Amino acid sequence: MALVNTKNMLQKALKEGYAIPAFNVCNLESTQAVAEVAGEKNVPIIISASEGTGKYAGYDYIKAIVETASKHYSNDIALHLDHGKSYEACKAAIDAGFTSVMFDGSALPYEENISETKRVVEYAHARGVTVEAELGKIIGTEDMIHSDTESFTDPKEAKDFVTRTGVDSLAISIGTAHGINKSIKTPVIQYGVIESVHNAIPEIPLVAHGSSTVPKKWVDEILKYGGDIKKSQGISEEDIAKMSKSAICKINMDTDLRLAFTAGVRNDVANHPEHFDIRDYCKVGKANMKEQITHAIELIEGK
Ligand code: G3H
Ligand code: 13P
Ligand code: ZN
Repeated sequence: MALVNTKNMLQKALKEGYAIPAFNVCNLESTQAVAEVAGEKNVPIIISASEGTGKYAGYDYIKAIVETASKHYSNDIALHLDHGKSYEACKAAIDAGFTSVMFDGSALPYEENISETKRVVEYAHARGVTVEAELGKIIGTEDMIHSDTESFTDPKEAKDFVTRTGVDSLAISIGTAHGINKSIKTPVIQYGVIESVHNAIPEIPLVAHGSSTVPKKWVDEILKYGGDIKKSQGISEEDIAKMSKSAICKINMDTDLRLAFTAGVRNDVANHPEHFDIRDYCKVGKANMKEQITHAIELIEGK
């Protein structure tokens, strides 16, 4: 199957009340892990690569791996730039063949977020590429405190924003957070915000970032084999299942895949000091990652 943009997959998810998983990749193994699991399950999937991954691996290399993988399966695959912080970053990903981009102008003043998002939409739509934007502040690892300073997405602003920018989907702030430690306690997901934003913009698929569950299993394995993770807290599995049935149509996970891979590598090098073939420990990391992706897809599918 050729690569597709996210238009049809997200609109179908919106109409039928489910969510598409979006997993971040950064290299050959992680891209294969996502493509193989989704391909074998024959489910639509969004493969995301950040600007950081663009610098690390190159957008063109990631595109080539995804395109190759897509020839092995018949499911729909979208290749998406995650958190593009500038027009130039989005343009670079589009020019490399990405089928979808996120322009993240959430740190910009509101009017600037609108004007920059609009520029990206014009460039992207002219090339058949879909655009996700962000409104509201989704906290990250660096601003860990779960406090009133977190700004949940305002429904009125969301209506104005999508009308003026023409985006295809919108990432909203609902109490999720990026990284390994999302909150002091289990994060409280704001279902009321999801519902009121959905009522304001019923035709726009909503996106949940920061949706990793931070499985204890991987954290414990990393710690057992010499890792140093002081605090960790994910989104509950119940919330992932519940969000999947709400107006949230795309669920982003990155941290859980990193944890799974790292646990495998640490385990392998600790138990096999004789290993120096890169393929030995990458094989174990990739197998763990596939296990985690399988579990996440089943959770999002409600199985
Ligand atoms: O939401 C952000 C993703 O986890 C990407 O992280 O910029 O380290 O690749 P990264
Ligand atoms: P996590 O850190 O929870 O995996 O979030 C990933 C994400 O939102 C990517 O955009
Ligand atoms: Zn994100």
